[in-house]
Amino acid sequence: MVMQIMVMQSVIQALIVSVALYAAIKDLTRKDTHKCGIEHAAKHGGIYFTQIVHLNVVVISDPHLAAEVLDRTKTPHMIDKPTEPQFYKMMDEGTADPPTPSLISTTNADPYWKIVRKGTSRAFTVNNLRAAFEVSRNMSKRLVTAVKAYGAAKPLDLDAVVQNQAFDVIGEFGFSKDYEATKDLWKGSGAKACMALKNGRMLAYQAEKHQQSKVSLLSIFKDLLQEVQARGSPAEEDNSIAAHLMRTRDDKGQPIPDVRIWSEMYLISQHSEVEAKVLAELESLQLLASPQLPSPRPLEYADLSKLTYLSCCIKESMRLYPVVPMIFRKAMCDQRVGGYVIPKGAFFIVHIMATHSTERHWERAADFLPERWLDPNCEYVRPVDPKSRYVPTGPADIFAADKPGNGKTTVNSSNGHIVADSRAAHRQEHKVKRWFPYGEGNRQCIGMPLARVNLQASIASLLSTFRFKLADEMGGVEGVRMSECYNITLAPEKGLMMHCIPRANHANT
Ligand code: HEM
Repeated sequence: MVMQIMVMQSVIQALIVSVALYAAIKDLTRKDTHKCGIEHAAKHGGIYFTQIVHLNVVVISDPHLAAEVLDRTKTPHMIDKPTEPQFYKMMDEGTADPPTPSLISTTNADPYWKIVRKGTSRAFTVNNLRAAFEVSRNMSKRLVTAVKAYGAAKPLDLDAVVQNQAFDVIGEFGFSKDYEATKDLWKGSGAKACMALKNGRMLAYQAEKHQQSKVSLLSIFKDLLQEVQARGSPAEEDNSIAAHLMRTRDDKGQPIPDVRIWSEMYLISQHSEVEAKVLAELESLQLLASPQLPSPRPLEYADLSKLTYLSCCIKESMRLYPVVPMIFRKAMCDQRVGGYVIPKGAFFIVHIMATHSTERHWERAADFLPERWLDPNCEYVRPVDPKSRYVPTGPADIFAADKPGNGKTTVNSSNGHIVADSRAAHRQEHKVKRWFPYGEGNRQCIGMPLARVNLQASIASLLSTFRFKLADEMGGVEGVRMSECYNITLAPEKGLMMHCIPRANHANT
């Protein structure tokens, strides 16, 4: 029973936490450590070795090599999730007592990872997306009502309120539990949970806040767990995550034994030409509020596939501001990656943000250009581009190479040494992703279908109702840039304060 609770806890934790929290390496204490990753990748290339305190770390931002590290469906035992406390402990202890590995932090080697993943992924099938849309639309409506009631005079932290919406969507879709975080943005258990999640982001810097948020989150998860268990066997038609989890059995047929959005809103609001195109798209579908049409028709599921330009904006925002900027792995045995021998015990940081920002793979990498996504193959490395192929250099043993940062860097990707590597050659013939905000391979985000639907529905609802103006206190574009903070996830350090001006009262200019 105790172990069953632990599994439940860890799944609930993974599902809820993944929206707002992610593992941080304690020692990366700079709030803009994600930017360092981009600078280092530009200087040292798509793979380099560094040392973080006593940990040997290989940092990867080359898409071919990222795929080699992440796509471990056939060889999950060779590269796995790290279990060292520097990676997931803070996250695990924030939501389970005693700290318990979640679906995110459990290793491939743990038999329950496969069982729980298989069971819960049934909640995210295409058939279930329509239900996800309904939940998302209802919660977006609520959010719009709450933001309208708040008014445009005072700036509102958009980062916080969209998190409330996501929390309600997961509560309802995943566990048939309405936390009402979107109904009342500041009070109630849902809103408090969101505040705890937000404070949780401070955990690397503010021990006291971390402690408070830990206590508060733990009690929320405990209550949810008890509530779900008290419901007993789920009805046949119940497709929630909780229901699938309760039905999950191990290979002997037994119940499991003992055991954000801010970047999209911000980027669109700061690019008037982009905003105009999004508005034109919403208007063409009669979804845009205006003084002439104060109550446009409600968003329908079928509209999602027609919002092509909005979808381009979301992808481009996730390229420049991936919610999870880095993911972590560990070499479980000596192995080759990109022609280098990586010894057992080394850690990998797959730097999603640096991969998404490298000039080597993206034209005008630093610019917000949603149009690039009109090309259906935009997420893949261009196969014909010889520059796109990673070519290893230096000694084959990466730890024998000079270390970047000591002025003698030799590990880079700019000369012509070719090292035979059959797996890499095989990949070259296949499409390799240069954009993977939800991760890749066997540990790819399980909630991606839900996240995609919810991002589109919530952003369409907000943009069709409000015009967003950055509050003066943010210090303009430069101020927002300076406030970027990698602390578990990527977010503006003190929120994203914006005025939300109803379109029904003002012309859409
Ligand atoms: C914009 C929203 C989201 C982003 C950008 C995101 C991103 C990610 C990434 C990058 C990973 C892979 C981590 C790794 O390989 O180490 C991941 C894993 C995961 N995500 Fe998400 N996620 C999002 C929303 C969600 C939602 C809504 C849910 C659930 C309702 C969810 C549940 C999970 C779970 C359970 C895992 C672990 C899967 C496993 O290891 O088997 N995520 N997410």
